[in-house]
Amino acid sequence: DDPRIDGIQSRIRVVPNFPKPGIMFQDITTLLLDPKAFKDTIDLFVERYKSKNITVVAGIEARGFIFGPPIALAIGAKFVPLRKPKKLPGKVFREEYDLEYGSDCLEMHVGAVESGERALIVDDLIATGGTLCAAMNLLERAGAEVVECACVIEIPDLKGSDRLKGKPLFVLVESQWK
Ligand code: PRP
Ligand code: MG
Repeated sequence: DDPRIDGIQSRIRVVPNFPKPGIMFQDITTLLLDPKAFKDTIDLFVERYKSKNITVVAGIEARGFIFGPPIALAIGAKFVPLRKPKKLPGKVFREEYDLEYGSDCLEMHVGAVESGERALIVDDLIATGGTLCAAMNLLERAGAEVVECACVIEIPDLKGSDRLKGKPLFVLVESQWK
C-alpha cells in the first residue's frame, strides 16, 4: 500500500456513540487540520484520475464538497454539486433514498451534465451505499457514464459497494462499524 495511507488513517478521528448510541462516527475534520494528510488525500485521488478523461466531478453535500472541488481543479474537470433538497434554484433531477429512519434526497441541476460525459462521484464515506446509489442515478439520468465512485473511508461490514450497480468503488481507508 501507499505509505501515505497510514498518515491519512491516523488523522481520522473515530468518535464512539455519535450522533447516536452504537455508531462509530468517522470524523474527517481532524484530517483537514493536517495540511500534509489533507494534501496526500487529494493527491492520491488526483494520481488515480488525472489520465482517465473525467469531464465532471460530482460531489455530495456536505462532506463531498470538501474533497470534490480540489480533485476537479487538479484534473481539469468541472465540479457539479449534488445538493440536499430545495437548495438549487433551477430545474433539477431528484433522487430519494432511504435512511435508517425516514428518507433523504439529492438534487442535481438539469443541464449541469451533458449526455456522454465521464463522471467521478466523490464523497467522504460510504456506509450503506444509499447516498452514492442516489448520486449515480442522478448522473445516469443526465446521460453521463459513471466511471467510478471515490471515498476517503469505507465501512466494509455494511457492504455498501453492493449497491453501486456494478460500478467500481475506490477507497483509501477501511474502518470498523462497531
Ligand atoms: C454521510 C456521509 C455520506 C453518507 C454515507 O452524510 O457523509 O454522505 O452519510 O451514508 P450511506 O452510505 O449509508 O448512504 P450525511 O448525510 O450524514 O451528512 P453530511 O451532510 O454531513 O455529509
Ligand atoms: Mg455526506
